[in-house]
Amino acid sequence: MKKPPLRLGVNIDHIATIRNARGDDHPDPVRAANLVASAGADSITAHLREDRRHIRDNDIRRLKEEIDIPLNFEMAATAEMLMLASEIRPHACCLVPENRNERTTEGGLDVAGQHNFLAPFVRELTDFGVRVSLFVDPDQGQIEKAKLTGAPVIEIHTGAYYEACAATQPDRIEKEFKLIQEAAQFAAELGLEVHAGHGLTFHNVQPVAAIPQIVELNIGHFLVGEAVFMGLAESVKEMKRLMADARTGAHY
Ligand code: PXP
Repeated sequence: MKKPPLRLGVNIDHIATIRNARGDDHPDPVRAANLVASAGADSITAHLREDRRHIRDNDIRRLKEEIDIPLNFEMAATAEMLMLASEIRPHACCLVPENRNERTTEGGLDVAGQHNFLAPFVRELTDFGVRVSLFVDPDQGQIEKAKLTGAPVIEIHTGAYYEACAATQPDRIEKEFKLIQEAAQFAAELGLEVHAGHGLTFHNVQPVAAIPQIVELNIGHFLVGEAVFMGLAESVKEMKRLMADARTGAHY
């Protein structure tokens, strides 16, 4: 299969985590967003959580006004977030499950169990001109239900693959990778646009980047962590280079 270009969405939540550690306004996530855009990021992702632990309402407003690349507003499917999205009108919204006690988004949406709630929610966002994506585990049952909500995009949760890589367990890595590969193929056959993300690093990104049906990766924590050592622009450039090489088959 011919591989379409692969975009990188940079998640800037953890720039805000560092800022919030001192309660001041440095480092500014919007400044970081503009810097990563200059370094080659194709879009910016920011997750406004119910508890506002990193990104804040005003960050989302400023991102919409002050960046020149698409904004992907990651949010839980709640009335509060729907109101904000209707005000801000980001390019895209990625709907994720949210749990106050989790360290980060731990699993995909239960689309199958929430169809009657999610389908009208997706429709409302779509009516605001927002491109909606649903964050789902690499599970074909969930993907089938995601399609039925009318959302044009899914983002495959790569967290289990990340955990398998971190544990350096080859059998587990292979199993989790295969699930992503099959899920991407299945979703594309249903006519869905396929994104992926969570826990992707320089070390595990290339197999995922080589999956031809995936057209966007959303990556945050590793890039911000690596920025401590090589700078934010360089970490984004290196990720893009690894993604491009995987896409063309060079060095992989
Ligand atoms: N995509 C989604 C839907 C997420 O919730 C997250 C984490 O906020 C990411 C991508 C990025 O994950 P990470 O920060 O581990 O790269």
